[in-house]
Amino acid sequence: MKLLMLCREPNLYSCRRLKMTAENAGHKMDILDPNRFLLKIQENRPHFALYYQPNQGTPYLLPDYDAVIPRFGTQSTKMGCSVLTHLAAKNIPCLNNPASFALARDKWLSLQALAAANIAVPVTVFAGQDFQAGSAVEKVSSPTILKTLNGSQGIGVILADRSQSAVSIMETLTLSHIPVLLQDFIGEAGASDIRCFVIGDKVVAAMQRSGQKGEFRANCHRGGITQQITLSDDEKLIAVRAAQALGLDVAGVDLIQSKKGLLVLEVNASPGLEMIEKTSGIDVATQMIAYLEKKIAGL
Ligand SMILES: Nc1ncnc2c1ncn2[C@@H]1O[C@H](COP(=O)(O)OP(=O)(O)O)[C@@H](O)[C@H]1O
Ligand SMILES: [Mg+2]
Repeated sequence: MKLLMLCREPNLYSCRRLKMTAENAGHKMDILDPNRFLLKIQENRPHFALYYQPNQGTPYLLPDYDAVIPRFGTQSTKMGCSVLTHLAAKNIPCLNNPASFALARDKWLSLQALAAANIAVPVTVFAGQDFQAGSAVEKVSSPTILKTLNGSQGIGVILADRSQSAVSIMETLTLSHIPVLLQDFIGEAGASDIRCFVIGDKVVAAMQRSGQKGEFRANCHRGGITQQITLSDDEKLIAVRAAQALGLDVAGVDLIQSKKGLLVLEVNASPGLEMIEKTSGIDVATQMIAYLEKKIAGL
């Protein structure tokens, strides 16, 4: 098969692993930067054309691919999802599909979708820019978490110890036209959460993450320490339901243990492979490529 990965940094562990694994399975894989595409909608068939601007040389018409794996970061969500939509319109299987990918990249819309599917999430509010910050902050508990809608790797997640701090941070962000959601802080989790790697209807690997000393964010990119973990059936079920609620084939589901029970913090559409493979000892890349092969075959 001829596979395409959409990614700006081909040297990242996840990209290298996926490319190597695909090639070992006898496939060819090109890695292209979504920001180097030109997308065209035209009258004549094929209605959807794509051109690519290589590093050196002139742009060329994109050849056909059998499937595409989106692995672009949050800085490229808009163009990346546009490229993905164009490829999906040409009936090229996408791991994940463009609508689900875009939904997962918006923290508020995805929490709404999770709640609509009866999946427990932390109490969260999203206020319009003209809603009084003080009244918005009163709707959640203190200390309060504030999150920008499309942050990642822990960036854009803020802990305000006092209500007054939450109000001033919210006012500052709103004035800067940065939409933000407010959320109950789950302090009882002790800066730990669980990352579940879901492929299809299975959790293929999981790990516990704990924030380093003095840090409430458990993200590996923020220095979080990882540990092997065996999930209960209940935890597995919630993770798979969360991925399915957003329509994702591949997802990194973050779970947090609160005093009210297990909650879904967020669902990532392009979860990293490095720490989950190294911590769990499971070859996640091979399972992703095997799943993609089945998807291409229409199984
Ligand atoms: N409501 C919360 N209560 C306690 N900790 C939280 C909460 N929300 C996020 N965190 C911590 O911050 C980390 C990053 O938050 P998350 O919503 O997953 O955003 P990101 O996309 O940046 O990973 C989580 O892994 C968790 O450790
Ligand atoms: Mg996260």
